[in-house]
Amino acid sequence: MSLKAIMETVLVVGSTGNIGVSAVTAALRSKRNVLAVVRNQSSADKLVKLIGSSKGITFAEANVLSDSGIKGVVEQVREGKLPAFQHVFSSVGGEYTTTPLPEITTAQLRSNFNVSFEANFFAYRDTIGYLLEQKNPATTWTICTGSQGDLATHPVPAMTQGALFPMTTAAARENESTTVRFNEIYLGYRVEIDELAEQHGVTKSSDFANVYELLLADPNVRSSRVRVDDLDDLKKLKYQKKF
Ligand SMILES: NC(=O)c1ccc[n+]([C@@H]2O[C@H](COP(=O)([O-])OP(=O)(O)OC[C@H]3O[C@@H](n4cnc5c(N)ncnc54)[C@H](OP(=O)(O)O)[C@@H]3O)[C@@H](O)[C@H]2O)c1
Repeated sequence: MSLKAIMETVLVVGSTGNIGVSAVTAALRSKRNVLAVVRNQSSADKLVKLIGSSKGITFAEANVLSDSGIKGVVEQVREGKLPAFQHVFSSVGGEYTTTPLPEITTAQLRSNFNVSFEANFFAYRDTIGYLLEQKNPATTWTICTGSQGDLATHPVPAMTQGALFPMTTAAARENESTTVRFNEIYLGYRVEIDELAEQHGVTKSSDFANVYELLLADPNVRSSRVRVDDLDDLKKLKYQKKF
């Protein structure tokens, strides 16, 4: 069998963000290919610049905010126009703002729920069937949420994170006995793309990538919340069943 035939592919939704770049890095470091969903060519260019190369990355342009965006990507995969994938990582995210509740406009509320909740929901709803059909115990589905959902120092991202918690618990339940390992990475501190992380004194995307690499490699992590509370959690997975 050729190397190409045995290489897995990770579909990354939100691939150009602080967290998405970590997922792309983890996939490439673990000798997997990446199918990166991007909104346009300039986002694709941004990702190539951040990763330093386009090797191993196929781009799929789609509007992840629409309820047909990811569906269209899966259709193209089924038609053989895009590579088959065995893993999904989703981390579409909106504003990281401290706007207090009374000042949040209706438009701001709705657009943030669309970006940070609906887009991740669509990504799950419209890819899980494709993974299940493969009946392959090596398949996984992973999402990144954060402690903002509990702390709420930043109300807008806190509310959208909060809405993701029950979605991830439901997905963890629904896949407890399926071939897909569903997991939530619950991040308790700030991660940014390497250049900004250095400027801001926060954790680099390339370091956070270790967590997804470890998760992909460990078949015991299933229907769980992987907690990343301190720097040691980048070296050893801390996880617990979600229910
Ligand atoms: N970073 C952290 O420290 C941290 C901590 C805990 C939890 N999280 C959670 O992880 C998720 C991602 O966070 P992040 O820091 O990676 O966010 P980010 O850097 O802002 O990235 C957001 C991603 O979503 C995409 N996106 C945003 N608006 C979009 C739109 N209107 N249409 C299409 N794509 C859009 C961006 O694409 P473009 O590049 O094209 O804009 C990018 O790929 C969020 O749910 C966040 O709450 C993050």
